Amino acid sequence: MAIDLRSDTVTLPTPTMRQAMATAEVGDDVFGDDPTVNELEALAARMTGMEAGLFVTSGTMGNLASLLAHCQRGQEVILGDESHIFHYENGSASAVGGMVLHTVPTNADGTLPLDAIEAAIHLPSHHYHFYHWAPPGVICLENTHNRCGGSVLAPSYFADVAALARRHGLPIHLDGARLFNAAVASGRPVTDWTRHVTSVQLCLSKGLSAPVGSMICGSAAFIDRARRMRKILGGGMRQAGVIAAPGIVALTQMVDRLAEDHRTARTLAEGVSRLPGVTIDVAKVQTNIVIFSLAAASEAERFQAAAAEAGVLLSDFGAGRLRMVTHYGISEDDCRDAVRLLAGCCLA
Ligand SMILES: Cc1ncc(COP(=O)(O)O)c(C=O)c1O
Repeated sequence: MAIDLRSDTVTLPTPTMRQAMATAEVGDDVFGDDPTVNELEALAARMTGMEAGLFVTSGTMGNLASLLAHCQRGQEVILGDESHIFHYENGSASAVGGMVLHTVPTNADGTLPLDAIEAAIHLPSHHYHFYHWAPPGVICLENTHNRCGGSVLAPSYFADVAALARRHGLPIHLDGARLFNAAVASGRPVTDWTRHVTSVQLCLSKGLSAPVGSMICGSAAFIDRARRMRKILGGGMRQAGVIAAPGIVALTQMVDRLAEDHRTARTLAEGVSRLPGVTIDVAKVQTNIVIFSLAAASEAERFQAAAAEAGVLLSDFGAGRLRMVTHYGISEDDCRDAVRLLAGCCLA
C-alpha cells in the first residue's frame, strides 16, 4: 500500500466512527428532527463558544454558505491571495453569490498585513459619493494556513484584525478547516481564536478523520441565514445523523491525537531536509503540513512521479513546491519509510 501523504482528507473513519454510524438515531434534519445532527451542532457551538452551529457537507460549502450569509451580491470579500477560498473553491463566492474577491498579499506566516486589509476597505465616503467602489462585506482569515505550510496564526493577531474590523463595522469569517491543529500545536482552546471572529468553518473530515462534513458556527441569527443558504446550495440533508455521528466522535475523541500528526510531520521535514536538491525550512513546520521545494517546476513534477512509482504520494503545490500532510493512518515508521523511498527519487 502506498504511503499517502497527499492530504489529511484521505483519512478513513475509525472503528468507533463506523459503530456510531451504524447505531445513530436519525430523523429528517430539514425539519430539525435529527437528534444526532442536533447534538453535533450543539457540541460544535459549545466548543467554539458560539451561539449556534450548522452541519454542512464540506469545508467548501461551509465557507460559501458563510460568505452568502454575510454578504449581498456586489459586496467585497477581503481575503489573502494565498487563501484556500481564493485558490481552491472555484471562485464560488463570485460564481454563486456575485461577490467580488478582493485579495491582499499574504505574509509568509499566513497573516495578512493590517495596513493592506485597511487599504482594501473602501470607505463609505468612496462608495456612496462616487459610486465607483464595491462596498466591503466581510474579511476572511485562515488558520492553520494551508498554502503557508500549516502555519499557526496567533490569537493576538486575530485580536488586531478584530479591532480593525470593528472600526469598520465588518464581520470576520475564519476558514478554520484545521483550527484544531492550531489549537493543539499552541496548547490553547479554539475559543482563543473564535472569540475574535463572527463565523468559523471547521472541517471534521481532515485530521479529525470523519468521513464527511464541516461545521459552521456563529450567532443564532447568522446560523439562521447560513441554514437558508445551505438549503439554496442543495445542502439540506435528511437522515444526516448517520454522517453526523462520526462527526461527534471526531470532536470528542480525535482532537488531542493531532499532536501525533505534528510529530510525524517533523520527522518527515527533518528527513527530507537531508535530501540533495531539497529546500525546506524545518523550523516553519508547526503542524501537519510539510512543504518543500525543488529547483524547478519540472524537477518537482519528475520527483512527484518518481515518488508515486516508489509508493509515496505527494501533492504538487506549483512553482517547484511539493506538499506532504500527515494524518491518522500515517505512523512514525511510515514517515521514516517515506523518507528512505524519497531519497531514492533524488537525482544523483
Ligand atoms: C484551508 C482549507 N479550507 C477549506 C477546505 C475545503 O474543505 P473541503 O475539501 O471539505 O471542501 C480545505 C480543504 O482542503 C482547506 O485546506
